[in-house]
Amino acid sequence: MKYVIGVDLGTSAVKTVLVDPQGKVAFEHSEAYPLSRPQPNWSEQNPEDWVKGTLVSLRRLIETSGVDPSQVDGISFSGQMHGLVLVDSEGKVLRPAILWNDTRTTAQCRKIEKTLGTKLIDIARNKALEGFTLPKILWVQENEPEVLAQAHQFLLPKDYVRFRLTGDYAMDYSDAAGTLLLNVGAKEWSAEIAEAFGLPVSLCPRLVESFEQTGTLLPEIAEASGLLTSTKVFAGGADNACGALGAGILGEGRTMCSIGTSGVVLSYETNKDLNLEGKVHFFNHSEKDAFYIMGVTLAAGHSLTWFKETFAAEKSFEELLQGVTSVPAGSGGLLFTPYISGERTPHPDANIRGSFIGMDSGHTLSHFTRSVLEGITFSLRESIEIVRESGKEITEIVAIGGGAKNEAWLQMQADIFGASIIKLESEQGPAMGAAMLAAYGSGWFASLGECAEAFIRPAEVFKPNAEQVAVYDGLFALYQEVYGQTRELNDKLAAYRK
Ligand code: XUL
Repeated sequence: MKYVIGVDLGTSAVKTVLVDPQGKVAFEHSEAYPLSRPQPNWSEQNPEDWVKGTLVSLRRLIETSGVDPSQVDGISFSGQMHGLVLVDSEGKVLRPAILWNDTRTTAQCRKIEKTLGTKLIDIARNKALEGFTLPKILWVQENEPEVLAQAHQFLLPKDYVRFRLTGDYAMDYSDAAGTLLLNVGAKEWSAEIAEAFGLPVSLCPRLVESFEQTGTLLPEIAEASGLLTSTKVFAGGADNACGALGAGILGEGRTMCSIGTSGVVLSYETNKDLNLEGKVHFFNHSEKDAFYIMGVTLAAGHSLTWFKETFAAEKSFEELLQGVTSVPAGSGGLLFTPYISGERTPHPDANIRGSFIGMDSGHTLSHFTRSVLEGITFSLRESIEIVRESGKEITEIVAIGGGAKNEAWLQMQADIFGASIIKLESEQGPAMGAAMLAAYGSGWFASLGECAEAFIRPAEVFKPNAEQVAVYDGLFALYQEVYGQTRELNDKLAAYRK
């Protein structure tokens, strides 16, 4: 039997999967690593932790599976997007990585808008948001100029790990699209954007396709991981692009909803000139010359984790979620907005914060839990509405991530989105997309679409219930009012956030 390995470099852990030609996951392994928040709004990680975690995870995968390393045809990656890693000419990391959920860069975003005006959307096809990479580079330029002066390349998280595994600098289009330095339509670095901020284009790594081979494993890495120096390494893609691949989002109008730490609504797109004025992100897909549009809820699964840790730490997620079916749609008049780390779509606002509105002495832990699930799902519906307004009809959505593991939440997604929700047989998220890139790159299939047909099987469909849809349509209108009604209050409260 032959295999490929998918590595998903997430925000809380790295996950590796060993996948056979039928798309069956023979073995999987995860290694967690810490995240540091040295100041309010900051979110950083030590790139060395990613490398260590990846190597330990690969070794465990090979050891526990008992597979001979010569059976592994190739390995590829999915990575948390946007995070900034700066390396010097020796490849040494110059400062901790600044992650996608770090929002220290509001001033740099305003500077980008002022400097580039409409060119930003024309070239980079996205708004300047705190999470993206260019604002992070500008923050370093302003606050740590000595660090930027030493920088030889900027890399994204999975590109740094791949560099350590192979010694090769490269970045694929799907991840490069999230930097704001890529001309997304032309698939080349924008010298115009780089020069507008005094950045040398030489800081940007070589661009490659996600399924392109970018080398083989270095001898010390082969030894540490249990693989071989001949193991082929393929570039890999952004976690959202890989999540989409792993959910079979490979055709016009196909849409997925992924609920992990962040939540994402993503729809496949072939029209490279589609202009939604930055209301949703527009990125290159990891399939050649394809794109996707995407809306992001910053704290999706994170809202639920925060809620559990803060108010029900002694319970497991299963125990906490058991109660939600005993509470009616609408949580007895309790409404939650998941803005606990600020928001992206449709409100790019790092200062907004969450609310529970309508608290009543009759509300129980189950009401609160249900309202958290509903609030997260309402936020994702805002992205679905933008995609619908672009002219796409969305009647079917593939659910992936933590939000696809609970039946009550899957039915809630069907009722709030007003669309059928498809749950997959073996849902592995972005790790499966990474494995697909290695499988296609290794020549197992003639196209990624063929690979998706072999690998991905639907398991269940959750259809919207007309009565619940009507209740949620009414509540969604109220939910949409909360942002405008709480924005000013939150701006004032920001002074008290210590
Ligand atoms: C997408 C985004 C997040 C990260 C999570 O723009 O910031 O979904 O990719 O890893």
